[in-house]
Amino acid sequence: MTAPVPISLDVNGERVVAEILPRVNLADFLREQLQLTGTHVGCEHGVCGACTVRVNGEIVRACLMLAVQAHGASVQTIEGLSDSGEVADLQAAFRDRNALQCGYCTPGMLMAAQDLLTQNADASREEIREHLSGNYCRCTGYQAIVDAVEATARRRRGA
Ligand code: FES
Ligand code: FES
Repeated sequence: MTAPVPISLDVNGERVVAEILPRVNLADFLREQLQLTGTHVGCEHGVCGACTVRVNGEIVRACLMLAVQAHGASVQTIEGLSDSGEVADLQAAFRDRNALQCGYCTPGMLMAAQDLLTQNADASREEIREHLSGNYCRCTGYQAIVDAVEATARRRRGA
């Protein structure tokens, strides 16, 4: 059996040092060892986007990345973005527009939407749909989610 290996990384601005089996993926590490359960796990093979987190500024599927690959990296989860207030306006828009029902997809949707809006504050509905196309929602039918992201983009532009 493979032995745990030491890793050290930054998670939501805090230094984390841990021992982890090489086969453990980043999503399970965040959820089970760090109790950061806002990162959800749906398909576990890179399709649904529920596990989306930021690693060194880029969004990634945490189910497709091994925790050991995050050694030395800076990881941000939905807890980090939420606690810092970075996505407060997006969260409010999701609430106002009924863009969540069960909420299972919501952390991943917020991570992906924030990624888009930081790159393109002028995103059109088509671009929003395209950027969120890797995030599945089984409840809302997507329309309300696109409405919420579009409303946030408009507000951030001061329009
Ligand atoms: S759980 Fe990672 S993409 Fe579905
Ligand atoms: S709100 Fe239920 S999966 Fe999206």
